[in-house]
Amino acid sequence: MSALAAINAAAVELLAYFTALAGRRRADPRDDLLSDLLAVSDADDGRLTQAELLHNLTLLLVAGFETTTNLLGNGLQVILQDPPAGDAVRDGSVPPSAFVEEVLRFDSPVQLTSRVGYDTKVGGVPVSARTGVVTLLGAGNRDPRRFANPARFDPMRPDGGPLSFGGGAHFCIGAALARLEGAVAFPRLLSRFPKISAAGEPTRRDTLVLRGFDALPVTVA
Ligand code: HEM
Repeated sequence: MSALAAINAAAVELLAYFTALAGRRRADPRDDLLSDLLAVSDADDGRLTQAELLHNLTLLLVAGFETTTNLLGNGLQVILQDPPAGDAVRDGSVPPSAFVEEVLRFDSPVQLTSRVGYDTKVGGVPVSARTGVVTLLGAGNRDPRRFANPARFDPMRPDGGPLSFGGGAHFCIGAALARLEGAVAFPRLLSRFPKISAAGEPTRRDTLVLRGFDALPVTVA
């Protein structure tokens, strides 16, 4: 099956899954996001159509999955390449949240996002509402005008946060969750497997927007 056919098949399956789940929550609402969104959608005042509801549910699931996987993989690669960086998290001299922020900056799980739809100026250049703009988050995270010595992994750097979750109206809705997942996972991984180390050549995924690994072999013994 081609990649495109597999993507289409997965999208159809996800829509069927969320259609069924929405049916269950409609019959038996709970204190959860889906039940709240269903109540808005069923109010039928045009704020959230059924189709928008289903596609937003799909987006919520998909947007939070490979992104966070890549945060964990990219951070693990930092630890494998630079064991003292992991030791500092393990012994508490670097707070896990600071480590996560620096992984996000150093090896951004999402490399770019885009904007279209309003008249603006970028660097003094007029951009019309009909022109699409691609914003290179990973490059911005390595901009020496913003981050001193940007190729250096330094969780204690004072330069401010990364651009990895985008910005403005479309700022990642799952940023707090992803940060929390990373801040929980790295210390747990490091204390559970104190000897974790590389066990072969990692291979990067051949993707443009999302940056992560296909394979990152480790040994824990
Ligand atoms: C390390 C993990 C993650 C990274 C790096 C990341 C990055 C991003 C980026 C760059 C955008 C586009 C922002 C913009 O264009 O300004 C975005 C949007 C979004 N993210 Fe995340 N994300 C992550 C995790 C998550 C999680 C865990 C969820 C959901 C639980 C999530 C849900 C979304 C959604 C729904 C949007 C669209 C927001 C909108 O258009 O208003 N993301 N994310």
